Amino acid sequence: MRLKIAVLAGDGIGPEVTREATNILRAVAELGGHDFTFSEALIGGVAITAAGTPLPTATLDTALDSDAVLLGAVGDNKFNALTPDKRPEAGLLQIRQALGGYANLRPSVAYAALAGSSPLRPEVTKDVDILFVRELLGGLYFGSPREWNKQTNEAINTMRYTRDEVVRVARVAFELASKRRKKVTSVDKANVLEVSQLWRATVTEVAKDYPEVTLEHQLVDSMAMHIMNIPRNFDVVLTENLFGDILSDEAGVITGSLGMLPSATIGGAVNLYEPVHGSAPDIAGQGKANPLGAILTAAMVLRHSAGLEQDARAVEQAVHKVLEAGYRTADIARGDANTQLVSTQEMGKQVHQALAESIDRRQAMHAV
Ligand code: IPM
Ligand code: MN
Repeated sequence: MRLKIAVLAGDGIGPEVTREATNILRAVAELGGHDFTFSEALIGGVAITAAGTPLPTATLDTALDSDAVLLGAVGDNKFNALTPDKRPEAGLLQIRQALGGYANLRPSVAYAALAGSSPLRPEVTKDVDILFVRELLGGLYFGSPREWNKQTNEAINTMRYTRDEVVRVARVAFELASKRRKKVTSVDKANVLEVSQLWRATVTEVAKDYPEVTLEHQLVDSMAMHIMNIPRNFDVVLTENLFGDILSDEAGVITGSLGMLPSATIGGAVNLYEPVHGSAPDIAGQGKANPLGAILTAAMVLRHSAGLEQDARAVEQAVHKVLEAGYRTADIARGDANTQLVSTQEMGKQVHQALAESIDRRQAMHAV
C-alpha cells in the first residue's frame, strides 16, 4: 500500500501532537510493509509569519498532490486583531474549501478507562459511541453577504444551504448509520430558521432511501441538553456546519477531554484529517498536550484513505490499552492512585509500544 500524506502541523500544540500521529503512521507502514511518504507544509499563523498568508500556494499544491492531508491545529493569539479573512483560521477554511470534503466525521467515544475523567457520572458516559457528521462547506462559515460595517455599526453573516448540499451530507450520515446502530439524529432549528426547514425536509426525503435506518429530528438547543443527559441514545448525529462545531466540542466532555477527539473530512478530492481540538497556545511547547486526538485521527487516515481497517482498529485498541494501563496526559488526569501522568511524547511512545505488540501478535498468528 502506497500513501502520500501532506503534513500540515500548524500552530501551538499542532506540531507536537502531529509528530506523535505521524510516528504511529510510520510504525504501521514499517510493521505492515507499506510505503507511506510525508511532505510537510505551512498553514495558519506559522504560514502568515513565514509567507504572509495563512494558506501559501505551495501548501495547497502539496495538499492537492497528496492522498491525504493530516493537519495539527491553527490559531495564534498574536493575530487576534486581524479580520477573519486574514487570520490563521482562514487558512483552514480555505484548505477545506479547496479540498472539497463536505462531510466532517467526528466520532465521540467514551473509553471506559476514562470514565473518571469526565465531569459526567460514569453511568451517563458508559458505552457512549456517537458519530457526528458535520456539514463542513456551507452555512454561516461560507455564506455571503458577510461584513462588519464600521460606519453603520452593523454586521452580517449569512446562513445558506441548497438542497443538494444537504442531500450529499445526509447520504453520508445514512450510509454510515446503516453500518452502525442504524439511527440518525438530524439537528436543526426548524422552529425559527427557514434554512433549517429546508434541512429537515431534505433529510426526511433522503431517509426514504434507507428504510432500515431510524431518523429523528432534534432542535439544536434541546440537543445540547440531551447529549449531556443521555448521550448513549445517539448513534449518528447529522448537523449543519456551526451546530456541529459547537456540539462536537460539547461531546468532548463525554470523552473526558477535547484532546481525545479525532476527525476526518471526506467527499472531496483529497480527504482532510484533523483533531477536533485547537492550537491551545497556553500549553504549547510544554509537552502537556494530549496526542490521542491526533493519534486517533491517524487511525482515521488508515481507515478512510489507506483502506487498512485492521490497522485502524489496532491503533484504536492500542489507545484503549494505554488508557487502561493508567497513562494520562494532564487534561485527562484526575490524580487517582492507579494513573500515571505522562508527557505528550511519552503518551505517543506508549501507544506505539502497544501497537507494535498487537501487530506482532497478528503477524505471528498469520504465520502459523
Ligand atoms: C474546528 C475549529 C474550526 C472550525 C476553526 C479553527 C476554524 O473550531 O475544526 O472545530 O470552526 O471549524
Ligand atoms: Mn471547533
